[in-house]
Amino acid sequence: MIYAQVMAGGIGSRMGHTELPKQFLNLADKPIIIHTLEKFSLAPEFDKIIVSVHPQWMQYARDLFDKYLDDDRIVVIQGGAERNDTVMGAINYVEENFGLTEDDVLVMHDAVRPFISGRILKDNIEAAAKYKAVDTVIGATDTIVRAVDGEIVEIPVRDEMYQGQTPQTVNIQAFQAQYNEMSEEERLILSDSIKVMLLAGHKVGIVDGDESNIKITRPYDLRIANIIAQENLDVK
Ligand code: CTP
Repeated sequence: MIYAQVMAGGIGSRMGHTELPKQFLNLADKPIIIHTLEKFSLAPEFDKIIVSVHPQWMQYARDLFDKYLDDDRIVVIQGGAERNDTVMGAINYVEENFGLTEDDVLVMHDAVRPFISGRILKDNIEAAAKYKAVDTVIGATDTIVRAVDGEIVEIPVRDEMYQGQTPQTVNIQAFQAQYNEMSEEERLILSDSIKVMLLAGHKVGIVDGDESNIKITRPYDLRIANIIAQENLDVK
């Protein structure tokens, strides 16, 4: 089975003081998370679309989805305190409700990346047939420098540098096996699911992301996203 997970368990502290967590803020004509979920709804490959939401916003999310979406595959569950807790919440949900098989795949995506495309979703699913872990990346345009204590210690070759986006896709049983092996300390450090899979020694495939697949993190990102969303509306 192919499961999607839309991650909306955070509160968006870097967005500053807003009346709603950023994933529920409006982008052009509808909330950010609705833009994101509409893209997942268009993909027939997913057996379930699991939306992990902060415990205080679950009823709000359910009401919102009832208003905007019509897709029986969507289910709302509680997110976790850390990103990996949110991932494990979805894996536990799948195990309890459907059982796990060795081919089960989880395609995880940030709720706050509303410009995800069908092509990127498809590429993740296809690559997951070959790799136990897949990351979505774009080539770095700026030179990446590594600095420690305020001083540069390395300037890696730019052609080998990428920026990570989402989706990130994992084989569920492989992720679960590695996560169960890890100490609490490791779990806190390895906040990225792909890092967890690397630690387990799995090869990680990459698929091309897109410049427009931005993550809305700060108010500036929301301004840019509004411009993109408005342009998309004008094209329709
Ligand atoms: N997320 C999640 N569970 C967490 C933390 C984050 O599902 N425990 C989700 C967020 O809701 C968001 C996505 O992961 O859609 C990307 O994370 P980020 O942009 O860091 O979101 P927040 O944690 O909400 O933001 P901030 O770090 O500014 O508080």
